[in-house]
Amino acid sequence: MGACLYEPTNVYKPLAPDVGVVDGPFEYLTVGGIRLPLPFTTRMTVVRLSNRDLFLHSPIKFDEGLAMELQGVGRVRHLVSPNQFHYAHIGEWARAFPETITWASPRVRRRARARHVDVDFTRDLNAIAPEEWRSEIDQLLFPGGYFKEFVFFHKTSSTLILTDTIINLELDKISEPWRTAAKLTRMYHPYGQIFFGMRLPLLFQRRKAKAAIEKIDSWQPQRIVLSHGRWFDADADEVISRVFRAPPHRRQLS
Ligand SMILES: [Fe+2]
Repeated sequence: MGACLYEPTNVYKPLAPDVGVVDGPFEYLTVGGIRLPLPFTTRMTVVRLSNRDLFLHSPIKFDEGLAMELQGVGRVRHLVSPNQFHYAHIGEWARAFPETITWASPRVRRRARARHVDVDFTRDLNAIAPEEWRSEIDQLLFPGGYFKEFVFFHKTSSTLILTDTIINLELDKISEPWRTAAKLTRMYHPYGQIFFGMRLPLLFQRRKAKAAIEKIDSWQPQRIVLSHGRWFDADADEVISRVFRAPPHRRQLS
């Protein structure tokens, strides 16, 4: 079986009041500028702030119909790159919506320049949430070396918004070699796990990891959205406990 998208794509799927996701088209792994025939699915998370500004987390490929639909939801305002790997379409959205603020993650400017991706970042994400969304969304920088990323928490819906920190691929939706890789690393539903590339760096950043996990715990999320695979619509506390505290991570991070 080949890879499957999370149909329908390019439509807003509400998960709770003021938060939803949009599943996008396939992206392809590129190595050294060469696009490999290795598709993976993409997902954008959308939060509507109380002033109707929209927070677009990890924007998917720009689509005219989707842009029109989102304008009915709120005002496209914040384009957020949570890590240096999720930024490629921010420029497209910023050109369509010139009033937006584009938010950079660590190293993302350098990566965009190296790959000749046309995007200007106007602000930098920080350990402290900016005034623009601080009262409604909290955030922290989750360690993971090269793969570190900002994670967010939408307070009123108790939604934890992740990118790659947890990957939960559905085996019947992916093809080889992802299927074997997902099985070997246990990054598949329902066992979704910390992204493989973060695990070794986390061993060397135990204090930072512990502090980040404690803060996530203090948020008491009910739901976890993520960029790759199936999101967790309930029992987020069990998922967090299993992923961040179960062996071997309990030994590694406590
Ligand atoms: Fe990713």
